Parts: sequence; structure tokens; C-alpha cells
Amino acid sequence: MKRRVAVLISGRGSNMEALIAAAADPAFPAEIALVLSNRPDAAGLATARKAGIRTEAIDHRMFGRDRAAHEAAIDSVLRAADIQIVCLAGYMRLLTPFLVGAWQGRMLNIHPSLLPSFPGLDTHARALAAGVKVHGCTVHLVTEEMDAGPILGQAAVPVLSGDTEDDLAKRILRQEHALYPAALAAFVGGNATSVPDSLACLANPLPLASG
Ligand code: GAR
Repeated sequence: MKRRVAVLISGRGSNMEALIAAAADPAFPAEIALVLSNRPDAAGLATARKAGIRTEAIDHRMFGRDRAAHEAAIDSVLRAADIQIVCLAGYMRLLTPFLVGAWQGRMLNIHPSLLPSFPGLDTHARALAAGVKVHGCTVHLVTEEMDAGPILGQAAVPVLSGDTEDDLAKRILRQEHALYPAALAAFVGGNATSVPDSLACLANPLPLASG
């Protein structure tokens, strides 16, 4: 039986689209049963509907400052849809211990940096400012501490001289789209500790400088 996955988004939803595309393969061990957004105008909702996936919007603005009530509404939709695994994919709301606790061990997130470097926002600008030569993305389990849960998989890219934030974002996004489906499949397949080692390597590795 395929695991029933919900993808939570806030915007464009390109990682969601990569998960939907991967799950279209009959051999993929999970189905995307629901796409849920905290923003009714998220572009990804239309993309999901076009792919024939059920969508829900639970607008956080309707709940004012009551994060707990917003998360309770999300949780009840997830449970009513018999969801088994939640994938955060560009879901830009901090979660409270309630939702994290309810889905602990069954909630994945993709983050645009090689954690534990650069948790939080503006990862590409911070990577450029720090002068790192390697940057990338991480799929990890969600725990109460933001961007700090056990790492399931990473993909790295070189940072090239003259790179802008946009260059880095694009280079890394391509890796995100490969990494997330692979990490989800490995996780669902019971191979929870790692994605194939081939994904934990440099994309387009540069020769090491000598001397
Ligand atoms: C992705 O780059 C994802 O890693 C990042 O937002 C983007 C969403 O793009 N997530 C975070 O920054 C989470 N803190 P998408 O909507 O096209 O998938």
C-alpha cells in the first residue's frame, strides 16, 4: 500500500510539483493525497488541482494570532484525509510544538542550505556573504527546534565566483527537485536514515585547488 502524503505549501510549489511528478510513477512508494496551503492564493494550489490532486486552503489570517487554532484546523484536515506523512515544501509558517508533536517522525521539510549551516531565511544571501564555496539543500525530519531535525538527505552545489542569490537559488532548486522525492521514497521505504549516498555528493564537483 502506498503511503498517503500531504504536501504543505505557501507559494509557488515547485518542490510539490516534483513530488507529484515522482509519485506518478507506479513504483513510487507514496501518493500525494492532499496539497494544503496557508495562503488561498498560493500558485501551487492551481498546479496541484491541474494534476488532479485534492487541495485545501486554510488561511492563517482567519485565525489572527491564534496559531494553535490554525494548526488544529490543519491537523483535523490531515487526519480526516487519512494522511500518514506530511511534507513541508516551501511552507513558510513556523510551527508550534502542537503540530510538530502530532506529526513527529512523520513530518519532513526541505530547506535551501546544507544544514546545520544557514537555518532560517535568506540562506543564499547569507551563504554568499559568508564566502562558502559549497552550498546546497537538506531534507530533514521536523522537530521543535527550527531546521534542526535529523537529516535524511543533502545535495550540494558549488558556489561560483560572480554568483548572485538568484544564480544560487536556481542551481539549488534543481537539486531540491531531485532530492525531495528521493528522500521521501527512502524514508517511506524504511530506509529512514539516509537517501542513496549518490545524492549526498557534489553536483558538478569542481577539481580541488592544488598547492
Ligand atoms: C524552496 O527553495 C524551499 O527549499 C524553501 O522555499 C522554496 C520553496 O519553493 N523553503 C524554505 O526556505 C523553508 N524555510 P517552491 O514553493 O517552489 O517549492
